[in-house]
Order: sequence, then C-alpha cells, then structure tokens
Amino acid sequence: MTANELRSKYIAFFKSKGHAEISGKSLIPDNDPTVLFTTAGMHPLVPYLMGEPHPAGTRLTDYQKCIRTGDIDSVGDSSHLTCFEMLGNWSLGDYFKKEAIEFSFEFLTDPKWLGIPVEKLSVTVFAGDNEVPRDDESAEIWHGLGIPRERIHFLPREDNWWGPAGETGPCGPDTEMFIDTGKAACSPGCRPGCHCGKYIEIWNDVFMQYSKQKDGSYKKLERKCVDTGMGIERTVAMLSGKKSVYETEIFTPFIKSVEAVSGKKYGINEADDVSIRIICDHARAAAFILGDSKGVTPSNVGAGYVLRRLIRRAVRHGRKLGVDGVFLGTVAQVAIDMYAEPYPEIGEKADFILAELKAEEEKFLVTLQKGEAEFDKMLPNLLKNPQKVMSGRLAFKLYDTYGFPIELTEELAAEGGLTVNREEFDEAFKKHQELSRAGSEQVFKGGLADHSEQTTAYHTATHLLQKALRTVLGEHVAQKGSNITAERMRFDFTHPAPMTAEEIATVERIVNEQIQADLQVTMEIMSLEEAKASGALALFGEKYESSVKVYSIGNFSKEVCGGPHVDRTGGMGIFRIQKEQSSSAGVRRIRAVLEK
Ligand code: ALA
Repeated sequence: MTANELRSKYIAFFKSKGHAEISGKSLIPDNDPTVLFTTAGMHPLVPYLMGEPHPAGTRLTDYQKCIRTGDIDSVGDSSHLTCFEMLGNWSLGDYFKKEAIEFSFEFLTDPKWLGIPVEKLSVTVFAGDNEVPRDDESAEIWHGLGIPRERIHFLPREDNWWGPAGETGPCGPDTEMFIDTGKAACSPGCRPGCHCGKYIEIWNDVFMQYSKQKDGSYKKLERKCVDTGMGIERTVAMLSGKKSVYETEIFTPFIKSVEAVSGKKYGINEADDVSIRIICDHARAAAFILGDSKGVTPSNVGAGYVLRRLIRRAVRHGRKLGVDGVFLGTVAQVAIDMYAEPYPEIGEKADFILAELKAEEEKFLVTLQKGEAEFDKMLPNLLKNPQKVMSGRLAFKLYDTYGFPIELTEELAAEGGLTVNREEFDEAFKKHQELSRAGSEQVFKGGLADHSEQTTAYHTATHLLQKALRTVLGEHVAQKGSNITAERMRFDFTHPAPMTAEEIATVERIVNEQIQADLQVTMEIMSLEEAKASGALALFGEKYESSVKVYSIGNFSKEVCGGPHVDRTGGMGIFRIQKEQSSSAGVRRIRAVLEK
C-alpha cells in the first residue's frame, strides 16, 4: 500500500458514503492566534464544528498536511515526524457514533478497502469520569461489529479524549483504533495505549460534543459532530508490515538522497541513522512549510523560527555525516517530486523552496564558520584550565551571540581535549528559553475559535482592509495571513515597499467610511467558478470544493471565506492602523485595532 493508494481509497470510500471531498488548507491557520501550525485535519474546520454551516454540506472528507512541533526533539528515532498527512471524515450534526464506527470498521476490514484482519484490531473507548459518562455505547457498537470484549479497552481522559486543538474550542471523548504489530507484549498489562510498540494507533474517531471555555468549563455543543483522523505515514507503515515509517516507500527516496549526498549508508551505524532520519524529516517538513500558500520564510519568530530551526538542525546533522557544502535542496527536491500532485502549491513553489533553503543554509554555514573562528580564539585560554573544562557560560555565549549549537561547541572542545560544563550551559539555556516562552505565550494568548463579537468584528475588518489596500496600493495586494485576538488584528499582504503615511491614512479612512455606512454583510453559496466569475476574491486553496461561501460587504468587498462575520458593519468601532512593517521579503504586516 502506498501513500497515494491510501489517500485515494480513503477519499473514495467516504465519497461512496455521501461525503463531499473538500480541499485541505494551508499549514498556517487562519485567524487562530493560539497555534503556529495546522496540527490536525479538524483544525481548519473548527468554525463548522462550532456551528457555522459548511457550504459543502454536513458530511465532509479530505487530506490535510499537518505540522506538530511538540515532539521535535524526539525526531531521529524510528517513529516521530514533525510533518505528516492526516486523512479525515466529518459529520457536522449529521451521523454520530453508530455510523462513524461502522464506517471506520468497514474501511479498515473490508477486503475491498484496507482488508485488515479483524484479529489484528483493538480499540479503546472513553472510561468516563465525573464530567462525562463512560462510553458504553461505542463499546457495544464495536462489539456488535465483531471486536471481542477483551480487545475493547476503557481508558481515561488522558488517552481517550481529544481536543481542543488550542486553548478553547470543540472537543470530546474518542475511540481509537490500534493494529497489533505481532511484537511480544512488554508486560502482563500491555494493551493499546502502552507505548512499547506492540499496539500502534492508526485512527481516531472523536465525538465532538463539548466546547471548552476560557474558564476551563465545558459547554455542550448544540449540534453533535464527528471528527476523525488517520495518519497516512503510520498507517502505510502498518499496512506494509514495516516497523518504522522510515522503512516505507514514502521515506525510501528521501533516505536514498541523503545517502547520495553524504556517501553514508542507512542501516549500518545507529548514530548515522539518527542523523539521516533527522535530515529526511526536517527537509521534508521545510519543503512543506516553504511550499505553503502562505509565504513563510525563515526568521526569528513564530512559524518562521520553527522553519529556521528545522533547516539548521538538518544542516548540522549533514555535517555530522561529513557533508561539506549546501545539500538540503537535493533532499527537498524529493518532497517536491513526491507531493506536487496531491499538494500543487509545492510544485508551483519549487524554485522558491530551493532558493530559500539554499540562502538559509549558506547563512548558517557562515554562522558555523564564525563560531568556529571564535572558538579557536578562545582555545589557548581554555587550555590553561587545569581541569580542561570549558565553562557553560562561555558555551552559552557562543550559542547566544553566534547561534553556535552546543553540540558543535562540545565537538570542538573534545577535539582540543576539553569538556564543556553542560550543567551550567543547560541552566543558562533554560533561563533563556523561559524568557522567550513567556514572550510567545503573550502572543498566543486568546482563544482558538474565540467567536466573541470582537473577534468576529476583526474578521470582517480584514475583508474591509484587504479591499481598501487593493484600492489604494493596487491589485497586486493579496492577503498572506491574518492573526486575530480579541484585542487586535494582524494582517500580512504582498506589497514590495513600506506604505507611506498618506497611504496608511487613506486606507484607514476608506475602512472607516465602510464602517460608518453600516453596510450589510451577506453570504451566498455558489461554485468556485461562479464565485470567481462574480468577482469574488478567492485566495487560499479552495481547489476541490464544489461550492464555497462568498461574503459580500455591501457593494464594497466580496471574498470567498468560511466566516463568521458581523451582520452589519455599523457597530464595529473605529479602525486604526497602529503599525505597518515588513513581515518577510515582499510581504508587509499591518497591526490594527477597532476602538470603541
Ligand atoms: N482530531 C483528531 C486527531 O487529530 C481526529 O487525532
């Protein structure tokens, strides 16, 4: 089973069950200040899970590129990935537990689809707690389909509850499906949910019934939904009898390309294998991030910082393998070739991906050289130390000032017969991290799908702003992303130069005129072709949807968008641009507020 086959089969199966195929979305979430990346297939669907009508109906299916960076330091072992694809099907107030589980069972076990022997399947269901009762209903459905009771496990909230994706939003108990790999049990208590590798989870059906509030309480959703997610890489590994995702047909070409640039062979030496896996994962993730419809480039903040870290870590492991010059483009090319069909934006942005990787790699190589030169300067003094120990403070200075990684300092130190006081370094590093984490929590406070009136008003303001910018600066202006909290909005857009004070004032005036005119906001559902023909702006990846929502603000603005929006512009407040600055090459960023 290949990834392409699995993707097609999944979508075909759910289409045959009355689901509309929708397109996956950008890796950078729209209007969600609580996360840097799209982490699950449900993420772009949060407004619909919360009650917004979806133009394609109440049964949806898609595949979604995802990035999860929580485990970034575990990448290198045989199972962790930062970038993966997720298959999903959704019921928006349509079917619930019975059909969801029946669909999952049929897709997994019917020889027409995946044909997994029932004996290999185990499931887990929610054990219940003082807030939500035990999910006997799901257990009975599984049992009725032929899963024996000893392979239906009731597990607590930490195992069988999913969501919200950010601080607030839709969530609920889930039921998870596991494959028995045939490995011996690690202990008498070994069962799905145990991480020894005997049972591998491949699919999760979430029964979205609650919305977590800012105060931590759970409110019942008016309309119960189903959200499911199946990881492609892991499922392909299981279906092809491989122990590791890196042994699948997905990763083989990546590994081959690293072997070609490094002259090393995979499977001979564990330390080399770790480096090879890190390069494969990180180069692939970097290609996805750079190849996204929203232009993220390496930087020192947010998603751009994650991208920079991925690239730099891959470069460092390249050097460990003995690679001297620039090489990541060769590995990223594998991703471009492999994913240009399912994700056309990756193919379209191939030149950009390669150019950005090369530039960042070259920049980092200079950093490395500078750090090495600094180290050489320090060396004579260091050698005078009778204990032959380099202080952690000094190692941290190399890291902080030159971006020189601690592992490299340790390597150079070892070459000079020295060790580094790692404890002292870790302490300084931790302090530094705490400071920057406190900084980013500021940025990410707010709530996922916080549909308070204020965020809705800001969302409508992004449409007014985009139209005003296109009027004042020209039609080349296109939204590159937005980020909304209850306190302010940020809006990124393409434009080659800083805006003049006059341009800023004119844009502000135009937006405020539309607010004062108390324009009515209306929504129509139509095909994407009709939407484009009617003059609506359609910017982000609505490639398969048979129908889309088009929001019009009076006769002023018309955009394809998921909503929600205010009904009338009248009460939005006074629009003020507080800052206009560069975001990345060719992209400007506006920070604006609505004053009451
Ligand atoms: N949203 C669920 C997950 O990511 C399906 O596992």
